[in-house]
Parts: sequence; C-alpha cells; structure tokens
Amino acid sequence: MRLDRFLANNTSLSRKEAKLLLKEARVAVDSISISDPSYSVKEDEQITIDGEVISVLGPGYFMLNKPDGVVCANSDALHPTVFDLLDEPHSDLHVAGRLDLDTTGLVLITGDGQWSHRVTSPRHECTKIYLVSTNEFITEQMITKLEKGIFLEPEKVRTKPAKIELLRPDQMLLHITEGKYHQVKRMLHAVDNAVDQLHRVQIGNIRLDEQLAPGEYRPLTTTEINSV
Ligand code: URA
Repeated sequence: MRLDRFLANNTSLSRKEAKLLLKEARVAVDSISISDPSYSVKEDEQITIDGEVISVLGPGYFMLNKPDGVVCANSDALHPTVFDLLDEPHSDLHVAGRLDLDTTGLVLITGDGQWSHRVTSPRHECTKIYLVSTNEFITEQMITKLEKGIFLEPEKVRTKPAKIELLRPDQMLLHITEGKYHQVKRMLHAVDNAVDQLHRVQIGNIRLDEQLAPGEYRPLTTTEINSV
C-alpha cells in the first residue's frame, strides 16, 4: 500500500494532509525519514509520525441507527449522509446495503469489501428483517402473495420467498433475503398496499442495538463481524 494511503487509512489525516507531513519530513519508515507518498509500505514495517508509532486500524465495522432524512451515500448536495454521523479515522468506509432516505434503522458500515459482499450479494441469501407499517390492513391474501414471491416488472424476476410475522393488522415483520431497489415498497405496491413506515431491525444475525438512539452508532462486536 502507498505510504500516503496507509497514513490516511490508519489516522484521521486526509491523503492531502498526509502528503504535507511527508513533505515536512515528519514521517519515518523503520526510523528512516521518507517523503515519497508513493513509497510502498511492507507488512512488517513500522511507520511513525513525529516518532509516534501508527498502528494498523483494520477495515472497521459499525452499526448505525439511521434516522429519517439521512442518505446512504458518500456525499449529497441536499441531505446529511450517514458518514456525517460517523466520527471515525477510517477512510474507505462504505454502506453494506443502503436504505432509502425515509427508511430508518439498521445500517452496516465497513471498509471490508468482501464482508459487505457477503451481506449484500443475493447468492449469500443474508436475511434482512424489516418492521413494515402499512397504509391498508394486511390481508391473508397479501401475506400469501408476499411470502410466495412478487413478480417485479422491470427486472422480470420473482422475489425470493419471504417470511411474514403479523404484529398488528397494519404492521408486520418482513424477512427477505434480497436487497433490490425499493424492494419492500415495490412488494407492498404489487399487492395493492403501501408502506407507511419502514424500519430495518436485523441483517443476518446482527440485530439493531436498542441502546442506539436514531443517529447513534457503535462498532460491531467480534461475534457480530464473524456471524456474516
Ligand atoms: N426496501 C425498500 O423499499 N426501501 C428500503 O430502504 C429498504 C428496503
């Protein structure tokens, strides 16, 4: 990995700030001052800034309770993003399974691309559980159709079998193993109902921590990381 990238990945410095420190000869690799940002860091080398050892942070794994009106994107001209809510030195973080602007609840954020692939790829069939409040009462017929799978027009595919736990006439827990664009809203629309409120409570075995108020986050535990 390039030295400037190593510094940006493992400290709160941006790449630009890292380059400045390198120029000022404040960075050393195994006690030898290095100013070249493209220097390739080897695994066993010790990097210091002003003599202080920089430890490797790892990719980072977090759960966030997304509030309404926050966007799951790296930047947005109109709305705050989930990354505005994170105060972490990790760079290269991304969302493993986006939620719509008006959907609330569990969002997983990581720098580990292979891990997030296991969360989102349809092949891994990682179950997502949504608390869905609907405009109309949920009938037996709707439940049967939703559980069997809904034919989605533009994709010309049927959604995979779902599981429903009815909590109230107008509220259910919906378990699905895919994450197609607006999937839950489109599924409800297809059975002549509509989503009033959508809240994600679980991904695989990772359940949204009830201690987290909307907008709060915490690192995942090792058990949660390894469960995916
Ligand atoms: N399905 C939707 O329609 N929206 C979401 O945000 C998540 C799942």
